[in-house]
Amino acid sequence: MTQRLQTPRLYLREFTIDDAQLLIDLNSNPNVTRYTGDGPVKDLQEAQRILTDIIFPQYKNKMGRWAIHLKSNDEFIGWCGLKHIIEENEIDLGYRLFEKYWGNGYASEAAKATLDYGVNNLKLTNIIARAAKDNVASINVIKKLGLVYLKNDMCAHDPAEIYILK
Ligand SMILES: CC(C)(COP(=O)(O)OP(=O)(O)OC[C@H]1O[C@@H](n2cnc3c(N)ncnc32)[C@H](O)[C@@H]1OP(=O)(O)O)[C@@H](O)C(=O)NCCC(=O)NCCS
Repeated sequence: MTQRLQTPRLYLREFTIDDAQLLIDLNSNPNVTRYTGDGPVKDLQEAQRILTDIIFPQYKNKMGRWAIHLKSNDEFIGWCGLKHIIEENEIDLGYRLFEKYWGNGYASEAAKATLDYGVNNLKLTNIIARAAKDNVASINVIKKLGLVYLKNDMCAHDPAEIYILK
């Protein structure tokens, strides 16, 4: 297991190909994908393709979407991480948790550690976060991290906002 970060309650590690089912489970709840622009992951084959084509290539830059686990019982609760979007030359901070773990500050805790890592270890200067305007929980996390409003955007078909780390 390639562990990347630890926080008081969490550890973050790189996904492996054996985690395909976790992606299926996480996206199977429409509440989780309501503002994310994707939807259910069809089957193991599609989940493996997401891992190999989208998630793993980011790891060569020492970033990427990382699996989040509770230290207390090793439970997988979702993911968080930085993603280099080449076309925009920006680093996107993202996160996603199973609904039963919302509202415990876990997303804020994971995102804060990830942001600090990006700034202090990777020396990144172009970190942004994008969220649908109605995704109050996500906007709250972004604001708590200290990112500031940059501009309006679209997230799939929803009006969205982009925030940037100054
Ligand atoms: C976004 C997400 C990760 C946030 O997880 P979380 O566990 O609620 O996050 P946290 O507990 O760290 O913080 C959320 C904050 O928003 C607040 N909040 C959550 N839902 C809210 C709502 N409907 N209205 C007002 N405030 C809300 C919480 O009180 C908390 O603020 P606080 O720490 O000041 O109390 C979670 O909702 C999720 O996985 N959503 C689905 C995927 C997604 O939308 N990802 C983001 C895409 S941009």
